[in-house]
This record gives sequence, C-alpha cells and structure tokens, in this order.
Amino acid sequence: MHTGSGSAPKLSELAGHFEPAAAARFLQQGDTLHRALQQLYGDDANFAGWFEHLAHELAQAAAQRPANLKELDTARCAGPDWFLGQSVLAYCAYADRFGGSLLGVATRIPYLQELGVNVLHLLPFLRARAGDNDGGFAVSSFEEVQPSLGANEDLDRLTAELRRAGISLVADLVLNHVADDHEWAIAARAGDRSRQDFFHVLHDETSVHQAEQSLEEVFPGAAPGNFTYVPQMGGWVWTTFYPYQWDLNYANPQVFFQIAIAMLRLANRGVEIFRLDSAPFLWKRTGTTCRNLPEVHTVLAALRAIVEICAPAVLLMAEAIVPVQELGPYLGVGMPARRECHIAYHSSLMAASWASLVREDCTALRQVSAQTPPLPALAAWVTYVRCHDDIVWPVLQTDEAGAAAWLPDELRHVAAFLQGESASSYARGRASFGGGEPGALHGTNGMTAALVGLATASGADEYAAALQRMLLLYGLAMTFGGIPLIYMGDELGQGNDDSEQALRMSRLDSRWIQRPPMDTARLAQHRDPASAAGAVFTSLRSWIGLRQSQPALRADVPATVLSTAHAAVFGLGRGDRFVAYFNFSGQAQLARLPGRARWRDLRSQQSCTGLLPLDPWQMRWLTREPA
Ligand code: GLC
Repeated sequence: MHTGSGSAPKLSELAGHFEPAAAARFLQQGDTLHRALQQLYGDDANFAGWFEHLAHELAQAAAQRPANLKELDTARCAGPDWFLGQSVLAYCAYADRFGGSLLGVATRIPYLQELGVNVLHLLPFLRARAGDNDGGFAVSSFEEVQPSLGANEDLDRLTAELRRAGISLVADLVLNHVADDHEWAIAARAGDRSRQDFFHVLHDETSVHQAEQSLEEVFPGAAPGNFTYVPQMGGWVWTTFYPYQWDLNYANPQVFFQIAIAMLRLANRGVEIFRLDSAPFLWKRTGTTCRNLPEVHTVLAALRAIVEICAPAVLLMAEAIVPVQELGPYLGVGMPARRECHIAYHSSLMAASWASLVREDCTALRQVSAQTPPLPALAAWVTYVRCHDDIVWPVLQTDEAGAAAWLPDELRHVAAFLQGESASSYARGRASFGGGEPGALHGTNGMTAALVGLATASGADEYAAALQRMLLLYGLAMTFGGIPLIYMGDELGQGNDDSEQALRMSRLDSRWIQRPPMDTARLAQHRDPASAAGAVFTSLRSWIGLRQSQPALRADVPATVLSTAHAAVFGLGRGDRFVAYFNFSGQAQLARLPGRARWRDLRSQQSCTGLLPLDPWQMRWLTREPA
C-alpha cells in the first residue's frame, strides 16, 4: 500500500473535462478520490497517467447521464436525506420469481405501491454464467441484462416506470468476483497475461496451503476451500465462493477502473442504489482472513467519491455480513473525514431477533443494540427479517475483545430449533452449507413463514400465534431505525419452496428453499383478511401505514434500549416521545412505561401509564401524551 504523498494532480485542469455541475463536484471530491486511489495504486509508475485517464472516463460518464437522471441528481443533492424518512420501505425479489421478466416486474408496480414500497431490490439480473450461477451472482457481463429476463432496453423501461412510481431500483454490483465465463476469465484461461492479472493466481500448491491457513470457508460442503485449479493457467485461482466465481484482484488498478465504469453505466440506466455484494472480501493479503482489510474501505471510499462526482443521486449499500463491531466503518463510523456506503444490512440485528425469539430471551438483542454504533449523518441501516441467503450465526459470536455475544452452544440450540430438530419446534428451516469443521456453526435457511410456524400451524390459534411472531420480527425491523426490507413472499406468508427442482438444488445449497416463485394464488387473496395470505398482508400493511405516520421512526431519530423487568421483553425508545415494546415469549408479560407520563397506544388509541400488558409475541407502539 502506498503511503507517500506523491504529487497532487492539477484537479482544476482535469475539472475542465467535465460539464459545469459535474466539474463543481469533481473539484469538491477529486482530492478525496485521488488520495484514496493513491493509497491503493500510488506505487504504480503509471499512476498519474492512469488517474488522468480515469478522470476523462468519469467526465464522459457524467456527461452521458440522461437528462432526467441529472434532474434527480440535482433534487437529491438538495435533499440528501430522502432515504431516511419513515415512509421508506424496501422489497427484495428475484425478477423471474416476482414478475417473470424485467417487464413483468413493471406490471407488479401497483402491488408494490399498495404495500407501501419505494425501494425495490431485484437480485442479480445481469447476464449470468450458463448453468450453475449462484442465483445470478456469477456475472458474465456487466453490460448486458440476462437474456431470459429481457433486453437492456427493458431495464431502461423498468427503471423509468419505477421512477415515475416513486420507487428506486437497487441492483447488485457483484464486484468481488466474475463468472468463469466472463470475457476476462476466458481471456485469462487463453493465456492473456494482462487478464490473468485481473485475478489472483497462485502457481504452487504450497502457497495455496499457506493462504488457506488463515482463511475461512464461506460455503464449506458446497464449495470447500478458497482456490480452484485451472489447468490452462497451470495455477490456482482464488475463488472465495463457488469455483466458478473468480475473485477479482483489486490490487490491479485496471480492475478498479473497469468496475467503476461498469457501475456508472448501470447508474446511467437508472439504477439508483448499488448493493455492493460481498464487500468485505475485496482485498487479499495472505496471512489474514482477507475480510474487512483496511484497503477494502479505501476501495469503497473511492467508489463513493466517484458516485458523488458522476451520479450523486445514487446510494451505495454494503453487503457486509460481519459482526456489528466490524460493520460501522462501512458506513463511515469512526472516520469523520471519510465516507463509504450510505446504507448497510444490519445482519447481527436480524440474527439476534431470531435468537431472541427462539430463546424467549432478548439478551442477544440487547447486546447487539448496545454494540450498534450511532451513525454519521446521511447513513442508515437496512433492517430485515429474511433474505435470499442464510441467517449467518457467526455474526453473533464472541468478538476478539471477548465482549460476550452468544456462545456457540446457545446458538446451536437456536439453529436446531429453527431447523425443526427439537420436538417442541414449530419451525421448518434447514441448516446451510454443512461439511465444514465438525460441530462448526454456520447458518439456517427457510422462509420467514416456515421459521415462525405459519407453515406448520394447525388451527386458527396456532396460525394467529405464528402470525404474531412474524409481525413481531417485522415490527422490530420497522422500529429499530433504518430502511426495513421485506423479502418477497413474506408479506403473503409464503412458505419454503418444496418443488422438486428446489429440493434438488437445495441438496448442495439449501438457500434454494427460500427462493420460491411468487405464489399467485396467495397473491390473488392478498386483500382478503379472512384468507391465510390476506391475514398476513393486511396486518403487515396496517403496521406499515402506521409507521408512515410516525416521524419518530425516521432512520435518523436516536434509538434507546429501554430497561424491562422480564428478559423476554425488549423495549426501544425512538426520540423522547415514542416507545415500542416487544414480547418475545409465548406468555403474557408486563412492561413498565417510562416515567410518570401517560402514553397512547397507536393502534387501540387507549391511554396508559405504569404497567403495560403485552400479549404473547405482541408488539405495541405508544406515543407520549402531552403533559
Ligand atoms: C452475497 C450474496 C450471496 C452470494 C455471495 C457470492 O453474499 O448475497 O447470495 O452467494 O454474495 O456472490
């Protein structure tokens, strides 16, 4: 890593290549960008020329931005807190499973609006590797939409229609790796040295063994090890995930350059938020875990500066499934002078909410909340219950400083319960990626409905109890502070995918059980509260509506954990006029309301003071009445 000062480029000269608005932004951000890139690539003899070339390309990308997106840039620069409001709600789906194709997704816009959604994350929709492709996360071309989902013009149409409906599209920028049939990998296999430098290639087995010593496996069982032998290259390519996903070498400035430009092209097609897939893995240094290295943050800071210059309407979202202590820097925590991502999944909160539900004890939630740092201005969590990946338990494990989170045995119990392995369990999840070290704790898969017992409920009472558990978890995601995210199908209480195809695919990778196609029969019933699907949809919808009316639930209102007498009860204050209580147990509980004030329940409109009764798995929202 280069630390020397180097000569500063003539930013004012380079700014001359930009149109006026972008030039002004370049003058503001150019120095930040240059410093970050100099740290990464300053040792390269051609650095100065390379930076100039990059600036030219940035100027072009900024100029090519369509007029309506330039207008969006202006609007967002004037109101940069647009994503922090209490009405912001995200939804995540696979394009094919949700709408059949990108244009099919456009036909679902009224449904999304009915639910209250204004941010839509479509899982990878760019051309993916033929055959196995990790659900699209093995990208073969950053320039082309997956042909089975439509053409590039369909993406333009979809983003335009979404924008008209006030919905921002989130796309994955799978920047840690490309598919082994991406043109860079094909050229590398064919002997092109400059393309081989796009990857990490180790030429002897001893180096592979050495590197493996300090690495963990992300998909043990399904894809053991971190390297794949490629006979044509006579070497081992670094493949953190599946063997067909080749990790990119960010120590090579050309890789950074290509990815930055690919991002801007997609931004110019109307993508408003980039989910930076597997961000912690971007930088490698043998002898380390190769996760969260300082250079990762420098790469992200450089991408952020580029977005600020060329497409300031755009947000960056970190996919960093790491313990909460390591998450802060992705949102710029602790680095006042540096900005990275605007938003990030809070996966520890998600895992802790499941652990609390199973244990009927909120210790994990309290610990995670205490470890959650206050965020800098204009940054927010993404709060969620389930997604297309597993619930990764190690994010809750003890940190290096020994601040006890949850012990492996306790987490093992939680996982076993959610996987339906204990007699008393209502849940029907599946363990993810077995096969690592014996007894190693990995993750749990399953749709929310399958994990809270909606799928196994027999009779109205059990169904109602399971629904309460689901609303409790989604309620927490809506209360904690951030952008709540609904995973497609959850709003209809859809269970695991038990089709033959899903079962076959889930033998190796059980994440496939939580990726069912939209159940259109359930969808047809979503407005009928007497139906199973409609009961979920209408109750979730009513909480979403209530949230929209509560400015205290904006992402930037401070959150405080409230003390409660019972371990199963979690209390959260937002600002000084709003409190929420969550009963994580199957027994009725009491919570003591703060102070002597009177509080009004936002659903029942009842006024209360002192002890607040909570039904099993109930969440209550209250606001303080004027004295
Ligand atoms: C991210 C994705 C996951 C994928 C992995 C490799 O973690 O969410 O689905 O398998 O990256 O791309």
